[in-house]
Amino acid sequence: MTDMNPALDRILTLELARVTERAAVAATIMRGKGNEKAADQLAVDAMRRELNELDVDGTVVIGEGERDKAPMLYIGEKVGTKNGPKVDIALDPLEGTTLCAKAKPNSLAVLAMAVGGTLLHAPDVYMDKIAIGGQYDDGIIDLDFSPTKNLENLAKAKNCKISDLGVCILDRERHAELIAEVRETGASIMLIEDGDIAGVIATVDPDKTGVDIYMGIGGAPEGVLAAAALRCIGGFMQTRLVTDSASQKQRATEMGVTEFDKKLNIRDMASGDVIFSATGVTDGDMLFGVRHKGNKIETETLVMRSSTGTVRRIIGEHYKLDKFSVD
Ligand code: FBP
Repeated sequence: MTDMNPALDRILTLELARVTERAAVAATIMRGKGNEKAADQLAVDAMRRELNELDVDGTVVIGEGERDKAPMLYIGEKVGTKNGPKVDIALDPLEGTTLCAKAKPNSLAVLAMAVGGTLLHAPDVYMDKIAIGGQYDDGIIDLDFSPTKNLENLAKAKNCKISDLGVCILDRERHAELIAEVRETGASIMLIEDGDIAGVIATVDPDKTGVDIYMGIGGAPEGVLAAAALRCIGGFMQTRLVTDSASQKQRATEMGVTEFDKKLNIRDMASGDVIFSATGVTDGDMLFGVRHKGNKIETETLVMRSSTGTVRRIIGEHYKLDKFSVD
């Protein structure tokens, strides 16, 4: 990362994989047990424990919530040993809590670390998002275009028919109109129950995922984490905070937002170099989930670094199971 000793930066890459691995394994204690909160708490505890082992002077900028609502990994919490660089940390110890509680695909433990002061302090509100892979020219898609126009432009850029395009959308009532309009165009829709960080990342490799474009409204914190991932692997993403009510506006103001309707691009959300790490909790399209196999645990982690554009998939085989024990 910029302003950081490159050797330390490299070491931190592996360290972050370790942090998300631990959170993911911890969450599996409650995988499929129908208790979202308990699963999330285990992931939070484990992630916090591991973060505090890191030689960084870290500040959580995207966390479990505002300080009065989240006792751990709250926004503004300091983490790390302080013997190291100042970094911003965006985290979601369990992305897709319901998916994990129901043992459904695609729940992840996610973390991004960036040079201090370079990640957007997004309030815990919704965010309108649109994203495509990095192989297209600028200006093809825009939140201010209609969904139809965005799909027409994308089909033209990809030199295919709209009906060949795959669109990922969160399956929510608020997307009824969007879904209806996209259906009219003939594009194929992949409706996801949860987990729009993976939905955005999927646009980077449409041949593998079948997802050419992500559209719709999800959490703002997840938007910043997705932007951090795209900083590493390319892609175009545009977002806008949804601050319709007075309380949402107040929350955004408290986080330093001054222009509520501003369209944000990736660099507005993650302006400096970042390291991104995600470990699968349940099996998913992007990563396999934590596997408990007798005397070992297997994990799969995607860890990437924007300064070098390196993406690594790390399969962890963990034989000393006591290191995962919860105090
Ligand atoms: P959680 O892990 O907090 O359950 O979030 C899952 C998620 O699906 C995100 O990926 C997404 O951005 C957000 O929830 C959408 O919010 P909502 O469920 O309120 O529509």
